[in-house]
Amino acid sequence: MAHTASRVTFVPLSLLALALLTGVRAQPALPSPAVPTLPPLSAQITTQPIGDSIFPALGQAGLDVLNYDLDLTVDRPGTSELRGTAVLTIDATRALPVLSLDFSGPAVLEVNWDGLAAPFRQDEAAGKLTVQPPRPLLPGTRATVMVRFAGQVGRRPDPDLPLNVGWQAVPAEGQRAGANFTLSEPDGTRTFLPVNDHPSDPATFTTRITVPAGYTAAASGVQRSEEDAPNGGHTLTFEQAQPIPTYALAIHVGRFERVDSPAVPVGKGGSEVLRRDYFPSGIPAGTRDAYTSTGEILKVLAEWFGPFPFSAYGSAIVTPRVPALETATLSTMPVTSSNVRVLVHETAHQWFGDRVTLADWSGVWLNEGFATYAELLWAQAQGEDGEDMVRGWYTRAGRSGTRPLIATTERQLFDTTAYIRGALALHAVRLTVDDTAFKAYLRGWVSGFSARPVTTADLLIYTRSTLGAGAEAALRLWVDSPELPPLPAR
Ligand code: TRP
Ligand code: ZN
Repeated sequence: MAHTASRVTFVPLSLLALALLTGVRAQPALPSPAVPTLPPLSAQITTQPIGDSIFPALGQAGLDVLNYDLDLTVDRPGTSELRGTAVLTIDATRALPVLSLDFSGPAVLEVNWDGLAAPFRQDEAAGKLTVQPPRPLLPGTRATVMVRFAGQVGRRPDPDLPLNVGWQAVPAEGQRAGANFTLSEPDGTRTFLPVNDHPSDPATFTTRITVPAGYTAAASGVQRSEEDAPNGGHTLTFEQAQPIPTYALAIHVGRFERVDSPAVPVGKGGSEVLRRDYFPSGIPAGTRDAYTSTGEILKVLAEWFGPFPFSAYGSAIVTPRVPALETATLSTMPVTSSNVRVLVHETAHQWFGDRVTLADWSGVWLNEGFATYAELLWAQAQGEDGEDMVRGWYTRAGRSGTRPLIATTERQLFDTTAYIRGALALHAVRLTVDDTAFKAYLRGWVSGFSARPVTTADLLIYTRSTLGAGAEAALRLWVDSPELPPLPAR
């Protein structure tokens, strides 16, 4: 991707940092012309993005972020103000003379590379933070990059939904306290954190959040500590020890109650999965009812999909009218979507999307089709035959127009085809075999493809190798046909 140098704005502090680094005394009024600056981005072949077919500018090819260690402070909950540091532990799969992160968030104040000040450039228009390492990052070596930032988060309007993806601000209103939470699919995380913002580079997260007196916080992973902070505030630390895509990171700040429930033995080898949900104050009492089914949902889905992939699971309920999102270990559930069917859907995404991650956004049906299919598996576990649901899907898929499953535009990402035709495609596969084989197929997909991101081609090859040519042909028809294939029948 070529970036125009004219859109690049230099951050004076980077010159200051460089001056300190090189031992040149900083002269803020007259920066020395001898101070080297970064060459224009267009001259940097190595700032090549990942090459996503829907979002061609996202990410950096060859960059592998292993861990994000976040230290965030929310001084005024309910506003768009955020400050903190992100420490990225990175590796490379090719030599990287420069680091290019996705970031359109608050102003960057300082960048350190392995503890030393590093020159950087924040390009607001391109949504990139470029950092010059002391020497190229070579494959197999690690570096630690610290980015300190403060200010207003960026805005990234969703192409379909009436919201900006990323850091949500819920202003205080009447009795209700201000709140913030993340809602980032597909590329909203870059509005508040410097990230390699693509699901093909999942990473672990340590999230430390400091909130003022009277507020609390939650995030993806397991809570490790809660400590006092100045002026009666608190600092809470969460550890997400399994890699997750950047968009799946949940962070919540507000006034809410944490409700712990008995752990559920659905982890690997029957290990316990911690159960906690977060309910904001002032929501209708009935909102909580759906969440009493969470343990049972985990058991039913783990039977079909294999062990739950993370050490904790639950929901964080939010008050704005937004769609639910499958944030890792902690689904983000609006009050208005607090029903069991949506909860089943988001819970299934913990396996499909959060654990098995996408190699390219064009394959998003691999998330949405599987999560929608889980709604049928749940209904059947409740004793329904599911015929109505399948017929209903078919009617809906036909009514709204259809397309091959691989998305070609941003607007197609979360359309009826991705969800409903995607689910019907899996049903078509199921009907070519018996349920024992289908269960092994679903479990094998999760266990075999957790280590690297997936494409539709991977699923087709996997289908042939596990269930045979008939199953693959059935899937291929649903993947490729411009028309809606006939309703699958056993
Ligand atoms: N993945 C979500 C679901 O089906 C839907 C979704 C896509 C979404 N983009 C979003 C939700 C942005 C909230 C915000 O479960
Ligand atoms: Zn979904």
